[in-house]
Amino acid sequence: MDLNLSGKTALILASSQGLGFAIAEQLVREGANVVISGREEEKLKAKCKQLAAIGKGKAVYQKADIMKPADIKQLVSHAVETFGTIDMLVNNAGGPPAGSFEELTDEEWQASFELNLLSYVRTIRAALPYLKQQGGKILNIASSSIKEPIPGLILSNTFRTGIIGLSKTLASELAPYNILINTIAPGRIGTDRVKHLDQVNADKQGIDIKMVEEQMKAQIPLKRYGTPEEFANVAAFLLSDANSYMTGSALLVDGGMVKAI
Ligand SMILES: NC(=O)c1ccc[n+]([C@@H]2O[C@H](COP(=O)([O-])OP(=O)(O)OC[C@H]3O[C@@H](n4cnc5c(N)ncnc54)[C@H](OP(=O)(O)O)[C@@H]3O)[C@@H](O)[C@H]2O)c1
Repeated sequence: MDLNLSGKTALILASSQGLGFAIAEQLVREGANVVISGREEEKLKAKCKQLAAIGKGKAVYQKADIMKPADIKQLVSHAVETFGTIDMLVNNAGGPPAGSFEELTDEEWQASFELNLLSYVRTIRAALPYLKQQGGKILNIASSSIKEPIPGLILSNTFRTGIIGLSKTLASELAPYNILINTIAPGRIGTDRVKHLDQVNADKQGIDIKMVEEQMKAQIPLKRYGTPEEFANVAAFLLSDANSYMTGSALLVDGGMVKAI
């Protein structure tokens, strides 16, 4: 199967580490050019060096806080000025804070709306003129909460399902431009975010984080967390020319964790 990613350009939001960075690595290995982003310049510089060492596609970075509309516009401009256009847009963001309904304030709800949903809307809007030029792919990173709410993560449970409504609607609206949009939903992939959530859980139960990890893994049919690379393999397919007929879909990458059909 030829992914045909060589020479194509990907803009990846929130990609200085974790799932976003794993997708950048995978695309660069396939010869694509990538723009990575995040809020910390030094971290981005180091990650760009790591991508350059792969010796295939080119990598540049742009410091951008996706909570800020001006940063999003600048990020898109930087990608276009550097590589001429955008063929692939990967929407990603930091995770929302854990908490139950009665613990969360209006400010936390508003911040999560802006981080986990509105940032995707704004970036799609800014990148659309370029995606329309030649057609392309949009990939949204969400969560397994799109299928089954996660206890103690009501902000994720609420706003990730909004991504599905957005994506399904845009699949129809953007099909005439040959822009395919899909969502990829991680279950438990071993990143800092999952470590953080396991620690929150451990503190709540007053047990060691290792015990929480064991409890979690026991609920996953494959009995382990996924690796960022395994997640990025699925993303690379959805972003590639090999995917020519999937749009408006949501794919779980969860080792079988979600039991819902
Ligand atoms: N890993 C999983 O199994 C899993 C499962 C379900 C859902 N998810 C969701 O998938 C997304 C990615 O997860 P991950 O595991 O890769 O998380 P991660 O390791 O915490 O990485 C988050 C990335 O987002 C960036 N970021 C955070 N806030 C930002 C902002 N305001 N502007 C720009 N960049 C920002 C961070 O960079 P800076 O801090 O340097 O800005 C970092 O690069 C998250 O929304 C997470 O909740 C992950």
